[in-house]
Amino acid sequence: MLQKGTVIMPPSYINVGAYVDSGTMIDSHALVGSCAQIGKGVHLSAASQIGGVLEPVGALPVIVEDNVFIGGNCGIYEGTIIKESAVIGSGVILNASTALFDNVSGEFISKEQGKPLVVPENAVVVAGSRPITKGHGNKLGIHLYTPVIVKYRDDKTGKSITLEDVLR
Ligand SMILES: CC(C)(COP(=O)(O)OP(=O)(O)OC[C@H]1O[C@@H](n2cnc3c(N)ncnc32)[C@H](O)[C@@H]1OP(=O)(O)O)[C@@H](O)C(=O)NCCC(=O)NCCS
Repeated sequence: MLQKGTVIMPPSYINVGAYVDSGTMIDSHALVGSCAQIGKGVHLSAASQIGGVLEPVGALPVIVEDNVFIGGNCGIYEGTIIKESAVIGSGVILNASTALFDNVSGEFISKEQGKPLVVPENAVVVAGSRPITKGHGNKLGIHLYTPVIVKYRDDKTGKSITLEDVLR
């Protein structure tokens, strides 16, 4: 279901059961997967993919709250919840198994048993990596993909992702 004032740039696609609220832009080549819930004033950038629940079977839809910005080529899957006004930098991939490092608190954010991964309000998340700590990869200096909260949204972030009122 699409609310009034949603902007859909072709060729994007919104799958069955999804909800997209007003003032949101779904940019070219973006996908809103089955049953995903997208809030008001969200920008889903070109080629970003919001996962659905059909296959593999998932009980939890992805939820993107109001005023979130999702950069180009991101992937948000497996019931991940992006809280209000968070900013997901280009190319960030998040699923239920992703360990997200908060460089402000110094803690990893992981899903709790049976619950989805939750990205906090106003978090600014960019792609990163961490050295593998076990197995052969450790000796070889292999890194695992690890998204990082570099900061919480500030004026500089606002300027980096200014939206165009005229398009709404
Ligand atoms: C996240 C983003 C909005 C930048 O936010 P910002 O608040 O302006 O970030 P800043 O420039 O203040 O950077 C803060 C820190 O994060 C780092 N950083 C910022 N964006 C980064 C990125 N995408 N990847 C890796 N590191 C990044 C900066 O180097 C800086 O590090 P430092 O403190 O060590 O110098 C921007 O990187 C981004 O991804 N924009 C989306 C672009 C896009 O996809 N547009 C859609 C087109 S259809």
